[in-house]
Amino acid sequence: KKVVLAYSGGLDTSIILRWLQDQYQCEVVTFTADLGQGEELEPARKKAQLMGIKDENIFIDDLREEFVRDFVFPMFRANALYEGVYLLGTSIARPLISKRQIEIANLVGADAVSHGATGKGNDQVRFEMGYYALKPDIKVIAPWRIWDLSSRTKLLDFAEKHQIPIAKDKRGEAPYSTDANLLHISYEGKALEDPWVEPFEDMYTRSVSPEKAPDKPTYVEVEFEKGDAVAIDGVRMTPAQLLTKLNELGGANGIGRLDLVENRFVGMKSRGVYETPGGSILIVAHRAMESLTLDRGESHLKDEIMPRYAELIYNGFWFSPERIALQQMIDHISLNVSGVVRLKLYKGNVTVVGRKSEKSLYRLDYVTFEEDSVYDQRDAQGFIKLNALRMRLAKMARG
Ligand code: ARG
Ligand code: SIN
Repeated sequence: KKVVLAYSGGLDTSIILRWLQDQYQCEVVTFTADLGQGEELEPARKKAQLMGIKDENIFIDDLREEFVRDFVFPMFRANALYEGVYLLGTSIARPLISKRQIEIANLVGADAVSHGATGKGNDQVRFEMGYYALKPDIKVIAPWRIWDLSSRTKLLDFAEKHQIPIAKDKRGEAPYSTDANLLHISYEGKALEDPWVEPFEDMYTRSVSPEKAPDKPTYVEVEFEKGDAVAIDGVRMTPAQLLTKLNELGGANGIGRLDLVENRFVGMKSRGVYETPGGSILIVAHRAMESLTLDRGESHLKDEIMPRYAELIYNGFWFSPERIALQQMIDHISLNVSGVVRLKLYKGNVTVVGRKSEKSLYRLDYVTFEEDSVYDQRDAQGFIKLNALRMRLAKMARG
């Protein structure tokens, strides 16, 4: 019996690691991913070794490029926003973690996987939906739903009893629950649980406040090919490099902070605060690129399905047949979304100031207020009359 644990190296997953060893007398394989969370991963290896994990059972993978190329960018082609505002930074990372965890389970011949998400949240759903979609007979162990370490105090006592190192600030309560990757960082719980209370300024880690941002705007040009950003200010970059660069630009200009109350899939509301500096620039730039290159019908169809697509990702249905089908349509429509968008970043705002494309559908000869030779204004008369016909008939009949 072997179990692959999604292991961050932090206190909670270290406790889970020891608990799995105790409870099941099984061999634990740890998997730690670099998704751009901005933390060293080698300490996780050290800690796993200290807890008796053999070197061949420790997996540490840099998944940053795959994350942005195969998960973040496809999602941004859809302009996905959950409940109008949330850029899905945590939601989109979970399917990749599940996928790699199952790959490792197959590699080492494990029959079970485990994660550190609680029984109250979205993450448990996302992880496990991924596991089952990719390995239908996998066994799932979710310690938070089964153990009796139901309070922070019990948890810390367990850690002490088993000589699991506890960071100094932990006894005095860590201020928030966070999740971080290259796309975003989230903050939930603790001081944020009262939705009326404004977050402290010192909570934020990826952006200056708009008030402290420079008094001069920053101009930036983002180039797109087939719906994906490929270059910034003329410099081509890999997907992860590009998002890193946008994060710097956004963070320095106070862009991408969000404070909302959202509906979790399990039914409860939760208050979350997010920083998504690069993603907040990217979605504005992408929409501007589409405005020039997409047909109205294509564009409005994308807008109609977007809330559904976003909800699928939020609820953990990344591997569902309908998400994949929607993605194919979105990718097909995106084939013409190429060109350059020019933006102004200023004190928390992203403003589009220019766009150009060889695929542009914008025609000055048609739209100009000056004289033209391509469009016959008399055509509009019948167009309007027939569109108005049913309203005229209704007025005549109904008064
Ligand atoms: N509420 C957000 C979401 O469901 C963020 C979840 C953060 N997860 C965490 N383990 N702290 O996508
Ligand atoms: C958790 O419960 O593990 C974090 C919050 C969430 O998944 O929504």
